Amino acid sequence: MSSFTYEINADGIAILTFDLPGEKVNKLTTQAMEEFSALLDELAAQEKINALVFRSGKDTNFIVGADIAEIRNITDSEAGERLARRGQAVFSKLEALPFPTVAAIHGPCMGGGMELALACGYRIISNDQKTALALPEVKLGIIPGFGGTQRLPRLVGLTNALDMILSGKSVYARKTRKIGLADEVTYKEILLQRALVMAKTGIGKPRKTAVRAKRPFVIRLIEGNPLTRNLIYRTAYRNVLKETHGNYPAPLAALESVRYGMAHHGEAGYIQEANILGRLAPTEVSKNLISVFYLNEMLRKNPHPSSITVTGAAVLGAGVMGGGIAQLFAERGVTVRVKDINTKAIGAGLKEAWDIFNKRAKKGVLTTIQARDGFDRITGTTDYSGFGKADVAVEAVVENMDVKKSVLRDFENAGGENAIFASNTSSLSITEIATASNRPEKVVGMHFFNPVDKMPLVEIVRGGKTSEETVAAIATLSRKLGKLPVVVNDGPGFLVNRILMPYLGEAVALLEEGGKIDEIDRALLQFGMPMGAFILLDEIGIDIAQKVSEILYQGLGARVKPSPLLGALYKEGYYGKKNGSGFYQYQGRKRGESDSSIYSMTPAGPGSKEKISAEEIIDRTVLLMIKEAALCLEEKTIDRPDLLDAALIFGIGFPPFRGGLLRYADKLGAKTIVEKLEGYAKKYGERFAPPASLVEMAKSGKRFYA
Ligand SMILES: NC(=O)c1ccc[n+]([C@@H]2O[C@H](COP(=O)([O-])OP(=O)(O)OC[C@H]3O[C@@H](n4cnc5c(N)ncnc54)[C@H](O)[C@@H]3O)[C@@H](O)[C@H]2O)c1
Repeated sequence: MSSFTYEINADGIAILTFDLPGEKVNKLTTQAMEEFSALLDELAAQEKINALVFRSGKDTNFIVGADIAEIRNITDSEAGERLARRGQAVFSKLEALPFPTVAAIHGPCMGGGMELALACGYRIISNDQKTALALPEVKLGIIPGFGGTQRLPRLVGLTNALDMILSGKSVYARKTRKIGLADEVTYKEILLQRALVMAKTGIGKPRKTAVRAKRPFVIRLIEGNPLTRNLIYRTAYRNVLKETHGNYPAPLAALESVRYGMAHHGEAGYIQEANILGRLAPTEVSKNLISVFYLNEMLRKNPHPSSITVTGAAVLGAGVMGGGIAQLFAERGVTVRVKDINTKAIGAGLKEAWDIFNKRAKKGVLTTIQARDGFDRITGTTDYSGFGKADVAVEAVVENMDVKKSVLRDFENAGGENAIFASNTSSLSITEIATASNRPEKVVGMHFFNPVDKMPLVEIVRGGKTSEETVAAIATLSRKLGKLPVVVNDGPGFLVNRILMPYLGEAVALLEEGGKIDEIDRALLQFGMPMGAFILLDEIGIDIAQKVSEILYQGLGARVKPSPLLGALYKEGYYGKKNGSGFYQYQGRKRGESDSSIYSMTPAGPGSKEKISAEEIIDRTVLLMIKEAALCLEEKTIDRPDLLDAALIFGIGFPPFRGGLLRYADKLGAKTIVEKLEGYAKKYGERFAPPASLVEMAKSGKRFYA
């Protein structure tokens, strides 16, 4: 079956539709590209064609990119380079058609799809929320290889292009017009009609060039002058390094490709682009990032869709988390009733939601009208009026078992008989919370991560009596909210915090031994963690971390004994960012230097021990995570290594370029891990003693991933 069909209208405009058979999304597979190439020859030879409109036959997407499975299979540079050169040749053919070409874009237009659109003379884009354009290749450890690094800078200018290419981020409808990526933005219902008008207007006119993009004069001046242009490259280089710590080669390579292309007109830039893609595609970093892409895909798919629909929700507790959760529901069309104990708290929660809506509108993800409509779906209350209509209640009150139980009882008494009660607790037992319920099968953990609008994971916690129907309903709901659900069994700290806390605890132990806050954080950043352990502790709140540590200690015993320093800091009122006093100093919400007064509370003081090496810092903190992860698998908190890796990547940002904690463990090898753990156990105590499953793996040579 063919992926492409076309018809020619009375004006001689060919309407070409791409509809990859048997797939929900359009992908540029090698086969589709070959078909397209042959079709372009056919179209070019037809004298009756005056213009071309290219559109997608899929309702929900334009083209999501090249076929990632094909990229994953590339094992040598020549194959990568060949793939890119072929793609470039096809799109050059499109660009060279002897009549105007218009891409009519609705839905995601990504990677190769965007490169195809760039090879067209004009782009018209729907203003739908689903429509987003991006060159996300760097997120897969490669660069755009079908001409994207060459055409985009010429179309939208260097600064705008680098902004997109080096980050891989999406640009939404309104901004596409602003930066000159779109020639027109319109409603999806009239997209084709407007595209036809655009094509007809273009007939007989010279091909437009990048000059028409309405970029400010000053920017054009800066970008046009070789000296100032160099400054743009240097700044971009510095920013990438600052962000990636050198762990992600692709953005720097993309910069190299853009720079070369801007300096060498014609074919040379394309050859260089293909060469760079070939260099990157076989690397371990790229393969790891592709496996993370597949983890994301896996979690998005719903193996057990639930028939329970959620149109109304209750959020109990309008704090940091409650405000974010309410926003999430409201944006997806669910009406939300938020309850707190006083109006001031409700005001703060609504402000949290309002700020997120505004941020999303500024970014162009939502229109201002959508943001306002969304916010209007939230109402606040200090009593339980109006709670009978909720299909689900998410509880986000203070982390206290008695308060959680009493809120649960009150909610059930208020009429939410059939509603699911989902607790956002970070560490309290779901099984225990459910003892306060008349229907414990409907009580479940729905653990969001902070900040709710940014962190993709929802850890769904199955309590002792939670029914599978409830689990399926919350997993389905999480996906509806745009989140990635991972189901785990109840237990101290569930999965993510159980693995995170020993890591944070060890960072504090290193500090107690004479390590320095900045040095420890720097080593962890260099390893690839999104932030240092002490910055994270300040973000979480030292008070909360202390509480969670105690809960883990009660449940898991001596190996996770909270450090005395954490307790002392809590007693002295160091709560972290929230009260401006933590491991770092704060001015408002802005983080300053690390707080040297902390050292007076450590037994050793800084520098009292010879410098702790970065290797030891990484070893001790990360090996303890691996140990706890092995125990979670042994105890069936979760049953698969890939799900565990996904939870840590999407929940706490474990470095994606490493492919996951257990992929990293496999790279080290169980034998090395066990030897290291035994060595550290001798030096620092039993908390490092390797668990039985790891010892067994070391003996048998088994790995977490087959
Ligand atoms: N902050 C985080 O990083 C984070 C992350 C994941 C989960 N959690 C969990 O989310 C929950 C809330 O955390 P938070 O950081 O938003 O706390 P918070 O202190 O910001 O908010 C808690 C809110 O609950 C309200 N509250 C107290 N008793 C109540 C009652 N009886 N009825 C209604 N509201 C009541 C408080 O007035 C406050 O507004 C906790 O269980 C916490 O463990 C927090």
